[in-house]
Formats: sequence, structure tokens, C-alpha cells
Amino acid sequence: MLSGRDFLSMDDLTAEEIRAVLERSGDLKRRLHAGESPPVLAGKTLAMIFEKPSLRTRVTFEVGMRQLGGHAIYLSPQDIQLGTRESTPDVARNLSRWVNGVMARTFAHRTVQDLAEYATVPVINGLSDREHPCQILGDLLTIQDHARRLNGVRVAWVGDGNNVCHSLLLGGAKVGIHLAVATPPGYEPANEIISRARSLAAKSGGSISVGHDPNEAVRGVDIIYTDVWVSMGQEATRAERLKAFAGFLVDGALLRAAGPQAKVMHCLPAHRGEEITDEVLDGPQSIVLDQAENRLHAQKGLLAMIL
Ligand code: CP
Ligand code: NVA
Repeated sequence: MLSGRDFLSMDDLTAEEIRAVLERSGDLKRRLHAGESPPVLAGKTLAMIFEKPSLRTRVTFEVGMRQLGGHAIYLSPQDIQLGTRESTPDVARNLSRWVNGVMARTFAHRTVQDLAEYATVPVINGLSDREHPCQILGDLLTIQDHARRLNGVRVAWVGDGNNVCHSLLLGGAKVGIHLAVATPPGYEPANEIISRARSLAAKSGGSISVGHDPNEAVRGVDIIYTDVWVSMGQEATRAERLKAFAGFLVDGALLRAAGPQAKVMHCLPAHRGEEITDEVLDGPQSIVLDQAENRLHAQKGLLAMIL
């Protein structure tokens, strides 16, 4: 179904394909917990290009490839120097002669698109400035595990309209989630992503709202999702961001405004005390470590289907 395909955006998969990947991921998760690791990628290699740091993405792709009988190669920013030491098309063409797939974490989204254009093997977006689709694939597995469904689940995004928010908008809209986004003025998600998500939600039975009031967004939701206010690459704008995001802290008061049913999600790494308090991040409503674990299972499902 997905063999040979790139995965650069949540919009690259149909709702049916998302469900198929989640089903495969859930199966691999159950088997792993039962001590089974089917070597479906025996002899296959994934090259992993990183222009930015990572804990979860690097470890889960590497462990995932290993558990499926394959192998992953980590290429640091110093190794490749995309576009400086060698052009992105040349890197893509060379890697395609040796490996079965490429995962890349980049600054510009254009860079993963260029890799995909020139590589003859599948390219997976491991986070770009525009999207983080692997995160949302894992998160949909987490939401499904906790809510027993995806369709109709109510999620509030509180904070920056960033890459993770973009992938949640697209992926959530496809599977029928009701998503309320609350950002400070000027930090909304990109307009074209909001419009695309709205048209997808109209078909799936989900809904999308974008506003500026965290208290209103979280009322009665199943899930509150937040992320850092300063993403990788935005460090120079830190001071103005901290000022703009005052009032968007996910703390005990916001959680109480949501209600006792609300679970808390964060893609991590967290800046504790900045966008989220320790009390909430480590509290009984937090499911952030399930999210981190599910990155492994979701990406294994994806890799098993596309490589
Ligand atoms: N959530 C996530 O992608 O974490 P890393 O930046 O550590 O990979
Ligand atoms: N929005 C964050 C996510 C990190 C996983 C960033 O891009 O830095």
C-alpha cells in the first residue's frame, strides 16, 4: 500500500492509510511487548540526516530499525553539511545507491522536499521547520490507546502554531478530531495549513478552530497538547517570544479549567517551568511518556510499510 512512498507531511497519507499504519504499529507494539521482533526489514538500511539535535527521533528510528532486523546510520550536521559541503540533490543521489530509505531532520522544509525529489528511495521527514509528521503518527497511536478511538476526540493545542501544531492540524483533521488551537496573536499556524485542515475536517466530521484564549480552548477537552515556545532554530527570537507567550503556560489552573478527564500531551523536549509546570508534566493526567514510547511503535509500522 505504501511501499516506496515518501512521508514528508501528514497530508501525504489518506485517512485510510493513517489507520493502516496505526494498525500495523499497534500489532508491532503488542508483539514487542510479548517478546517478538519480526525481522521484516532484514538487510535494510536507513540513513538518518540530522541538521538539528534529537533524542527521541534518533533513538526511536535507530532502535526501530534494529528491532525489525535492519540497521540505521546516524549522520550528524558535521558529517554531511547539506548544501555546503555537497548539494542536497547530490547527497540524495549518492545515498540512494547505498541505503533503502532516508530520514531527515532539517531546518527548511524545502530541504526534505529536495531530498525526496532527488532520492530514488523513500524519504521520511523527521522534523522540519514546517512539520513533524512522525510525531503526530505516534501521537495518534497514543490518543487511540487512551480514548479508544480517534473520531470525535476533542484536543486543545495551547502555545505556538509551529511544526508540531501543523502536523496535528493536518493529521487530526483527517481522522475526525475536533481541534481548538489557542496561540498568542501573530503566532497562529500558517494560513494555508488552517484552510487545508478545515477542508479535510469538513469531510471527516472533525472541526478546527483557531483563537487566542487558552481557557476557552481547553474547556471540556479530552486532551491538552503543548510544545516549546522557542523551537530549534528560533533561539534569536527567544526574548520576544517569552513576552508574547505569557498567559499560555499549561499549569494546574489551566488543567482544572479543562476538567479531570483531560490528559496532557507534549512532544518533548519540554522547557520545564516555561510552557508547562513540573506539576502538570509529571502529574497523573500527563501521558507524555506514552507519546515518547509510541514514537518507536508508530515509526516501526511506517518503516515496515514503506521500506
Ligand atoms: N519529539 C521529538 O521529536 O524529540 P527529539 O527532538 O528529541 O527527537
Ligand atoms: N517545535 C519543536 C519540536 C521539537 C521536537 C522544535 O521544532 O524545536
